[in-house]
Formats: sequence, C-alpha cells, structure tokens
Amino acid sequence: MPLISIRHITKRYPGVTALNDVSFDLLPGECHAVVGENGAGKSTLMKILSGVIPDYDGEIHLDGQAARFLGTRDAEAAGIGIIHQELNLVEQLSAAANIFLGRERHGRLGWLHEREMEDAAGKLLAQLECHVSPRAKVGTLRVGDQQLIEIAKALSLDAEVLIMDEPTSALTETEVARLYRVIGKLRERGVTIVYISHKLDEVFRLANRITILRDGRFVKTLDRAATNASEITQLMVGREIASVDLGGERCAADEVLRVENLSLPWPGHARAWRLKNISFHLKRGEILGFAGLMGAGRTELLECLFGASADRPQGNIVLEGRAVQFHTPAAAKQAGMALVTEDRKRLGLFARMNVGHNITMCSLPEATSTGLLSRPRERQMAEGSVAQLGVKTAGIRAAITSLSGGNQQKAIIGRWLLARPKVLLLDDPTRGVDVGAKAELYQLIDRLCRDGLGVIVTSSELPELLTLCDRILVLCEGRLTGEFTRAEATEERIMHAATLRE
Ligand SMILES: Nc1ncnc2c1ncn2[C@@H]1O[C@H](COP(=O)(O)OP(=O)(O)OP(=O)(O)O)[C@@H](O)[C@H]1O
Ligand SMILES: [Mg+2]
Repeated sequence: MPLISIRHITKRYPGVTALNDVSFDLLPGECHAVVGENGAGKSTLMKILSGVIPDYDGEIHLDGQAARFLGTRDAEAAGIGIIHQELNLVEQLSAAANIFLGRERHGRLGWLHEREMEDAAGKLLAQLECHVSPRAKVGTLRVGDQQLIEIAKALSLDAEVLIMDEPTSALTETEVARLYRVIGKLRERGVTIVYISHKLDEVFRLANRITILRDGRFVKTLDRAATNASEITQLMVGREIASVDLGGERCAADEVLRVENLSLPWPGHARAWRLKNISFHLKRGEILGFAGLMGAGRTELLECLFGASADRPQGNIVLEGRAVQFHTPAAAKQAGMALVTEDRKRLGLFARMNVGHNITMCSLPEATSTGLLSRPRERQMAEGSVAQLGVKTAGIRAAITSLSGGNQQKAIIGRWLLARPKVLLLDDPTRGVDVGAKAELYQLIDRLCRDGLGVIVTSSELPELLTLCDRILVLCEGRLTGEFTRAEATEERIMHAATLRE
C-alpha cells in the first residue's frame, strides 16, 4: 500500500496553474525523485505535502486515510518534514533555537531549557557531521551548514517522510558527499525520501523511482532501472536537447582587466591568507573560468573584484588600464563590474519588489530620458529580459517571490546583463537552473562575449566550465595551481591541479 497517495491535485494562482490534476503514489521506504523544468510545479507540490500551502483542490491520502494539513505543524505531526529550496531559518537565532523553533522545551516553571536544547541540537548536528556550535547564530554560517540545520530540524521531528527540495544546489562537493551519507543513514532507518533535483546524476544515484512533472502536469513515474537520463530529459522538456555547441573560437581583443598579486588576509586563521598572490588578466570577448574545490577561494576572489570582501584585499586591480580599488559593491558597479552571486536569497533578490523592478534596478539611468524616468522604457527593458531569458512569470508586475527558484535566478542574471557591464562576474550562475534553460544561458553568455564583454565564471560543475571558457584557471587553498587553454583543459587535469598542495 502506498504511504502517501497524491490524488488529482490542482493549484491555481492568478494567471498561472502551478499544478494541474497531479496524481501519483509514494511507497514506504523508497527514495522518490521528482524532476521537471523550472516552474514545472515541483516546489508547489512539496509545499502542499508539507502543509505550507493549505488551499488546493484534490486530496492527499496518508496510509489510506484522507489527510488535510492546515499548516506545517499538522504535516509535522503526521511525520512529514521538508527542507525548502530557499532555506527557511531565522538568521538572528542560534542553530539550536532554529532546530527547536516553535517546540521549545520548557521546564515545569515554563523556563526554556536552553542547555537541554543545545545538547540535543549538538547531538543531531554531530550525526550529520556538522561541526558548528549549537549556539552559533545561523546568519553567520555557510549555506551548507545552514542546510544541515534544516535537516537536523527534520530529524528532531522523527519524520517518517523527508522532502528535500534541491538540497545540493548550494553545497560544495565535500558537503554533497556528506549529505549522501546522511541520506543513506536515514534510509536505513526506513525514512521515505522525496528528492527534487536538476542534477540527473544525483537522481540516478539516489532514487528508486522518478516522477516527471511538466507545466504543472504529471507526465510519468519510472523505475530507475528501467530508464536513463536522456529519456528523463526528453520527458521533462518534451523535446530533445542538443548538446550545446558554442561555435568557433571567440576572438579576444584588448585587455579589460588585470589582477596582480592579489591577496586576501584571513585574520585569526592558521593559513593567514584566503587568497595569496593571484595574478591573471582578462580580455574583452573572453570567458575565463575558475575551477577549484570547496574553500579554494573562488567566491572570495569574485567578491574581492566586486568590492564585497569582508577584509581588504592587497595587490593591484587594473580596469581598462586604470588602477582601481573598490571598497563597496556600489563603487565596483559604477566602474562597470557586475556580480551574479551564488546565494541569491541573501545577496541578489529584493523580495519586496516585483519581477520588473528586480530586473531594471541596476540600469535605471538607461531608462531615464531627459532626467525623467521613462516608465514605458523601463517596462520595455524588463519585458525584453523576461523574453530573452525565458523567465516564466505571470508578468513583470508579479512578485519576485512568486517565481520558481530557477526563474528567480534567471531574473537576476537578466538584471546584470541589462546593466551593460564591462566585466561580468558569474559565481556558479546556473545553480538550480534546468537543462534547457542552461543551454540557453550558455548561448546568451557566448553572444554577449562576442559583443565584447569580458566574463569571469566559476562553477561547481566542470563540464559547464569546459563548455563555456576560453581559459580555465585552477585555485587550490587560495593559490593558483593551474592554467589551461580550452584545448588543453580536461576534467582530469583540472581535478589534479585542484588538489595540488604545496
Ligand atoms: N505564490 C505564488 N504566486 C503566484 N505564482 C506562483 C506562486 N508560487 C509558485 N507560483 C508559480 O507556479 C509555478 C510553479 O512553481 P514552482 O515553484 O512549483 O516550480 P518548480 O518546479 O519548483 O521550479 P524550480 O525548478 O525553478 O524551482 C511557477 O510558474 C510559479 O511562478
Ligand atoms: Mg522549486
């Protein structure tokens, strides 16, 4: 008998049908992957299953009984926990307080048993190989650790079903390996797992069965053993995706950026330097990639170039032949730099603004004629971006938070492309973006480059760098340990350089 039976679920929003008559079953103890393009309805369905969205048509049966959750508390009581795509923690509170939020343990006199909660949180975190203090404020932690805190929270509920909505999209390779081990342990205990991911290798590694959604509709549930990645991709997008071929050599022109002996101090740390003596140059029309493992310094490097690093970097940055020093992102932006960050929730998105304003906010001077902001021009710019990037939205006036995760990412990329920077910095830009949209983004980046933009890109996926880049530099523990041209670069060579130590 199925553990959970999803029956005829429909969810409409003004202008969008997020789910349209979806039915399928979850079996006890299985790992069930749900896949589909950006905006297919995956997160919406999971929010219904976990009580976040209480109003919908259709039914959920739990152990054969109709169940209706009016809030997350109801779903938790029924043994269903969720780790959201956009993490849902209170940044000002400690790890322990987040884990037991709403279920604080009280003593007889109503006092919070803080020590007890901290001990319990410490044990849960240790099980997850997470070495942060239960007292640490969540806002100060890395995304990977924040995610483990969400998992610890689900563990503390003794969840029978654990939903993971793109859990690895913000994790480094080491953290992903750790998460796989955690999932393995949960499955040994008989926990049923619903797993959402855009990474098909992950899906094939973890899932017993795979359900495909397309445009809010159920397409098919397949046994892993009876299918393969190309069948799944085709069912997801309804057409075959050709492998991306970006055409011939790009011809790089004059130098736009030069970095000499850039070092970033690391106060109080044994290594003393997050980045040490980094030198490189970037030409107009060139795509330069940075590869490296967790902690190699890729994000830190881009932050230095964008005036966004916590500590002041040393060394020289020369932009179009002029020595520059950016103390703030605003100054960097003014000079023609743009950064698409890896953590869109914290740094990229303005949750209270609509889609259109999120896109045009950095290029408002362009929408200005004779000193007055031209509304039609602004609207035209926003609509152009939405069309160009294929952002799935009810319109540019829709709330940015109403977009699916991957579509939010596309909107932010659109914002920076409109700002017409001289140098575009992309920090793992296609994280959470579906296969079809990825291919389109690669083509777009390529086109912009051919128009003379200089691009620096990092990625956690090597094939992405190998597809896009003219040259790939490799970082290991804050130092440059390799440089390859497009012709020289292979995954093996890059991995070798990425693990070189002094
Ligand atoms: N609160 C909301 N208001 C309006 N529309 C919404 C809302 N939430 C979701 N939608 C719309 O419903 C559709 C499905 O969104 P959902 O977040 O479920 O997609 P997804 O499959 O999780 O995509 P992704 O892979 O990008 O995360 C999208 O078109 C989205 O814009
Ligand atoms: Mg989603």
